[in-house]
Amino acid sequence: MKFSFERGLSFRRALIAVTLSSGLFFAGPRAAVPPAQIAATPPMGWNSWNHFARRVDDATVRAQADAMVSTGMRDAGYVYMNIDDTWEGQRSATGEIQTNEKFPDMKALADYVHGKGLKIGIYSSPGPKTCAGFEGSYQHEEQDAQTYAKWGIDYLKYDLCSYLDIMKTAPTPEAAHQMMLDAYTKMHNALVKTGRPIVYSLCQYGDDAVWEWGASVGGNLWRTTGDITDRYARMETIGFSQAGLAKFAGPGHWNDPDMLEIGNGGMKPDEYRTHMSLWALLAAPLLSGNDLTQMSPETTAILTNKEVIAIDQDPLGKQGDRVWTEGPMEIWARPLSGGAKAVGVFNRHPGPMHVEMPFAEIGFKGPVHVRDVWAGKDLGILDGSYPVTLPGHGVVLLKVGK
Ligand code: GLA
Repeated sequence: MKFSFERGLSFRRALIAVTLSSGLFFAGPRAAVPPAQIAATPPMGWNSWNHFARRVDDATVRAQADAMVSTGMRDAGYVYMNIDDTWEGQRSATGEIQTNEKFPDMKALADYVHGKGLKIGIYSSPGPKTCAGFEGSYQHEEQDAQTYAKWGIDYLKYDLCSYLDIMKTAPTPEAAHQMMLDAYTKMHNALVKTGRPIVYSLCQYGDDAVWEWGASVGGNLWRTTGDITDRYARMETIGFSQAGLAKFAGPGHWNDPDMLEIGNGGMKPDEYRTHMSLWALLAAPLLSGNDLTQMSPETTAILTNKEVIAIDQDPLGKQGDRVWTEGPMEIWARPLSGGAKAVGVFNRHPGPMHVEMPFAEIGFKGPVHVRDVWAGKDLGILDGSYPVTLPGHGVVLLKVGK
């Protein structure tokens, strides 16, 4: 049901136009955010959509959960097994959401996943239909939250989809915007009421400056962009467009530039390392989107690199930002607990490039300890700058500290 998504675009643009021209929506202070009990660091796991799309079923999720353990992904920190769209069946006579034939017993599947030391996530929409045209949660929010809790669900991705059509009934763009906030708040309250800790992931494609209000409607993460694909150009557009959003993220509430494509085959290893490095610097959720039963050693090495994951999961929870650019070269830095910084030197050019990495640009004067994260090598004490030669679309990821 892509139609609702596409048809919604012009309306969303109108909303944004009004937002920008009137400054009406976001003038007030942000609601206070309580200390993080859920998603204290960016959620890590797997999501079915990027690789399996509509083909996901019970057997797939079980096989992926097995592989999550056998590949070392679980022990590297990936715990959520998230079923995206297309699991939904019809509602019962009493309105209870049921699974379709691909998922004969969701509670049994959740038990299986939990038995592996993993958690399980599910997907719905505040609208009557999901983006793929399945049953959404509209007017069944409390009932659905209770059903998820009964099944043992630990994570909900809530995707705007056909709720955009409901918003069109609002008399003004401001009222439509408020309807969206209310819809997201409604499901948040329903989830809280279950008493089960359920990570709440907002998906509305990054419109209406969601980073400004995502936490105030209870979101633990919110998509900041449209959908990623397994192409360098799309990943690059999404990843490097995140500059300026750092101040909106923190423990319990994260910017989400969409799921990972690492291992799906459409990018070169250097490009996938760029993808992983940038997402770690962005304190992004790390939701692998590949077939975990078919991982090459290189894919496993990229996804499970302990030092890169430690940057993503740094307990300080401060998102990184762009600090320097020169042509296609960019430097992004992220403050880490303990005073060091993670630093990504990126080459967006398709061919190799050389740069003298100036430490002053990332806030260090005098000698610094430098470690090359992907090489797993200490480079010793350096002063002034560091000469870096990068492959096309490549990255050097450093840890720099006094
Ligand atoms: C939207 C979302 C995707 C995915 C699909 C499922 O496009 O942005 O991440 O969930 O819907 O239909």
